Amino acid sequence: MTILTTGGCGFIGSNFIIDWLANYDEKIINLDKLTYAGNYNNLASLHDCESHIFIHGDIGDSSLVTKLLQQYKPRAIINFAAESHVDRSIDNPEAFIQTNIVSTFRLLDCVNNYWQALASRQQDEFRLVHISTDEVFGSLSSDAAAFTENHPYQPNSPYSASKASSDHIIRAYHHTYGLPLITTHCSNNYGPFQLTEKLIPLIINNAIALKPLPIYGDGLQIRDWLYVSDHCSAIRHVLEAGMIGETYNIGGSNEKTNIEIIHTICNILDQVRPIENASKITRYSDLVTHIEDRSGHDRRYAVDSSKIMTELSWAPKETLTSGLDKTVAWYLDNPAWIENSHTPSHLEWLEKHYA
Ligand code: NAD
Ligand code: TYD
Repeated sequence: MTILTTGGCGFIGSNFIIDWLANYDEKIINLDKLTYAGNYNNLASLHDCESHIFIHGDIGDSSLVTKLLQQYKPRAIINFAAESHVDRSIDNPEAFIQTNIVSTFRLLDCVNNYWQALASRQQDEFRLVHISTDEVFGSLSSDAAAFTENHPYQPNSPYSASKASSDHIIRAYHHTYGLPLITTHCSNNYGPFQLTEKLIPLIINNAIALKPLPIYGDGLQIRDWLYVSDHCSAIRHVLEAGMIGETYNIGGSNEKTNIEIIHTICNILDQVRPIENASKITRYSDLVTHIEDRSGHDRRYAVDSSKIMTELSWAPKETLTSGLDKTVAWYLDNPAWIENSHTPSHLEWLEKHYA
């Protein structure tokens, strides 16, 4: 038996593949285009593992996808591949429309052709899990109830609009062709292998280098933080027992303002790597710097995960404290990974965005 992941060299996909092979003895094909966000070294621990097969390619390349489906005959597909950074979508929306809408449609169409030709037992067993985001639901006021799966779509950024579009295409392919699809909406993930241009690794990386810690606007925007291995276990639950055609929210039940997150990281670093006396500053929080707010910045996301918790018996294992402790420790232990992730594209982004 085999499963296919797309985008498995990105942050969540690489955690998922490592987690999958630690839990199951089932081959995993990893189709990844290796954009600026894809890093083959995330899977360095699997380079000699015969159960992981890496294919360098685009989900929008229909002939490649069709060939892979025929060759490996996966029983399931997990679609992580996407352009995923909101700030980059504000600068260059076109890449988001291309990958998250056009290429996702092409992937789906190839999968539909593959699935239609399967024998009926294999058709019944097949699943495609599409990894979406809570951001498709828009922004919540401070006193509003958390997003349920039935919350209306109100995407506000080119990123969330492109993800919302792919969700609608997924829904239509299930409704029209009967393709066995399930969509998940997770909150903000954090943990090992996240590129240092997203909030938590950016703050850890800058703090270690005693650089300013940039907070957009007043820093009172709220996100619900999910430790990435909890997300991986949720996806496994969805794949095993999720209902075809349904959607599942996956959150960490950790709603915090950005400023709280940054101060928590600073406090952990003060404990585990105190600043040396020679420096002008004494605590990492002295580095906090308010900068211009993101355009159209969503104020609050909150995710109601009761459906997956009650119907599929999933629950996150990490608290925010334990997850942030592990995350800070991982970045401190992996300076070579950080160095290696500083590609020209990434450095250019940091220079352009924070100069
Ligand atoms: P990421 O940007 O770290 O990784 C994306 C991966 O997809 C990269 O390896 C990239 O090379 C690959 N990719 C991009 N375009 C491709 C294409 N056309 N064909 C094949 N591969 C391609 O993203 P991530 O943070 O790991 O997110 C994974 C998924 O989860 C995305 O769909 C994202 O929208 C969703 N999501 C992420 C978060 C989060 O907090 N990171 C939250 C909610 C939802
Ligand atoms: P991010 O990690 O980009 O995820 P998303 O925009 O998908 O939620 O950002 C998380 C929050 O942190 C978001 O409210 C924007 C904020 N933020 C900053 O305040 N400063 C920064 O330098 C970055 C990258 C993000």
